[in-house]
Amino acid sequence: MHYQERILVWLSISVLVLFIQPISALELVRGPYLQSTTSSKTILCFRTSEVSTVKVEFTDGFTIRTISSTARDHTVNLTNLKTDKRYKYKILSDGKLLAGKYSFRTAPPQNGFGTLRGAVIGDSGKAGQAQNQVIAQMQKWKPDILIHVGDIVYPNGADEDYDLKFFQPLAKLLRSIPFFPCIGNHDAQSLEVYLKNYVLPERSGTERYYTYRYGPVQFIVIDSNLNYLPGSEQYQWLEKVLKARKRKSEWRVAYMHHPAFSSGKHGDTIDIQKYLVPLFKRRVNLVLSGHDHIYDRSMVGEGAGRKVPYIVSGGGGTDLFEVVPKPNSSVALSAHHFVAFKAFKGTILKRLRVKAISSQGQILDSLVAGK
Ligand SMILES: [Fe+2]
Repeated sequence: MHYQERILVWLSISVLVLFIQPISALELVRGPYLQSTTSSKTILCFRTSEVSTVKVEFTDGFTIRTISSTARDHTVNLTNLKTDKRYKYKILSDGKLLAGKYSFRTAPPQNGFGTLRGAVIGDSGKAGQAQNQVIAQMQKWKPDILIHVGDIVYPNGADEDYDLKFFQPLAKLLRSIPFFPCIGNHDAQSLEVYLKNYVLPERSGTERYYTYRYGPVQFIVIDSNLNYLPGSEQYQWLEKVLKARKRKSEWRVAYMHHPAFSSGKHGDTIDIQKYLVPLFKRRVNLVLSGHDHIYDRSMVGEGAGRKVPYIVSGGGGTDLFEVVPKPNSSVALSAHHFVAFKAFKGTILKRLRVKAISSQGQILDSLVAGK
């Protein structure tokens, strides 16, 4: 073969190879998931396989709006939304559908009335059958919001573990209702990842502890890995939030990872009992925690006065702990479960119902809080 012919063959092969190279298609590799939803806005987060410009198209059924985003980790603010309204949305790349159509609902009006269904999971981030069964039960409950009481991803909250242990198993819920977590001790080992993955209300000045109102409930989220002793910034913030006159929200629910009272192997957290329980008294209707991989409920309060339920919900999917019931524990079980609540406030009636539902759908506990 002549030199020129060899060049020609080489060129032809090169052109052929160039054409049969697969063009890597842009994919959604994480999410979408909703953050910090209020009655007028929400934040849609997702990750694409590479840095790219995509469009989020959303509609209330009348008006279609579009927002562009250029990033790999996209954080798209959907603002000026109507209160208590369902929106459909989809994510597009060059006119092609990347995700959707999905939908979300904005929060009820901030006048403290209405109904809120919540699902609470803790210590879930291991992936596997138990976690999936708990999530299937949560989906049946049809919650409006999803709360995590910490230890979202084992063993140390690393970003490469997030998809398999959190975003993928919870995908259906995360794309349609907002997620409001608190930091577990395992998550705190990768604090930067936690703070990057979530966009949380930060009226306290930090995403580590915060408060938000959703329908008839004010939630108070504490970082029990961080200093919360009297004199600390977090304590001062908490005191201010709790001592503020209850405004329109009728119910107050506090949550943090470490439990004040627990019948599991980690047991009570003495500093929380000593410094935070007195603050919660008469100011909070329900306290939720995780950390011990059990379900436990203690009714706390002296004499015949109103007692506050302190619930440990650490059976969200990882290996369970044995239970050694404490004297003030009403129910203590070693079982995979989630906590379901329904808060209601009308002009006359109000109610905060709480249930623990097992991974098999059995009611493990049921109570009316805040009587
Ligand atoms: Fe923990």
